[in-house]
Amino acid sequence: MTAKILDGKKTASQIRQGLKEEIAKLQKKPSLKVILIGDNPSSLIYVKNKNKYASEVGIKSEVIHLPPSITENKLIEQINKLNNDKNVNGILVQLPLPKHINEFNVINSISPEKDVDGFTIQNKGLLSIGTPQLLPCTPYGIMELLKRYKIKVAGKHAVVIGRSNIVGKPMAQLLLNNDATITICHSKTRNLKNITKTADILISAVGKQNLIKGNFIKPGAIVIDVAMIRDEKNKKWSGDTDFKAISKKAKYITPVPGGIGPMTVAMLLKNTLTAYKLQNKC
Ligand code: GUN
Repeated sequence: MTAKILDGKKTASQIRQGLKEEIAKLQKKPSLKVILIGDNPSSLIYVKNKNKYASEVGIKSEVIHLPPSITENKLIEQINKLNNDKNVNGILVQLPLPKHINEFNVINSISPEKDVDGFTIQNKGLLSIGTPQLLPCTPYGIMELLKRYKIKVAGKHAVVIGRSNIVGKPMAQLLLNNDATITICHSKTRNLKNITKTADILISAVGKQNLIKGNFIKPGAIVIDVAMIRDEKNKKWSGDTDFKAISKKAKYITPVPGGIGPMTVAMLLKNTLTAYKLQNKC
């Protein structure tokens, strides 16, 4: 079997086109503020991409670049100003934050209606009881990619590797809300291979090159690779999975790059439009 590619790049482009058409019909443009603290090289690239694609679909987007020395109080003050600004629909604080700033305090100072990352306790709570409002972008993008390829998750065994608040946990919850049977694996999991071999859908979000080898996969499985690891020596990106070996066994596989990365950005834009609608009750 040769796996078919789940083309996130193409799908994200179709989603952006749909958003562009919908936004063009609005009287006022949705507005997104992206807060970046410091000069983390990966964060700089991610933020530049988010800003570029937001502008492309007609979202008024601005990056607020703050020095790494900013205090937690000053940062929260800045977020409060954006919370109270009627002309701002979406607020995103790029993670990770400098060590002296408490991530929980900062994230939860964002108004839940403007939380386009879906990271506040309010949005996490709504997801966990099955009535989500704004969903974390990466898990949302994965569900959307599966949906557009007509891959059903109900009744399937989905194995999620990674238990982060950004990807692993909300991913498991979304799959559960859609009637999959879930196993979550993490750094303390024993016999990872024995578990992944039982997965109908395998989602890996670890950040460890070659963690998932060909013999970790059940024939015909759907394999989603969330990781983005930069190999500076070969000037290439890779994920957690051995793409070549798994391509021979899986039914579907996501490439890195061009898989989940573009879907995450597309869902951020979709969330910004959703936030606009929530605030304008339309
Ligand atoms: N850092 C890595 N991924 C993300 C994300 O999805 N949102 C934010 N805000 N920061 C991140």
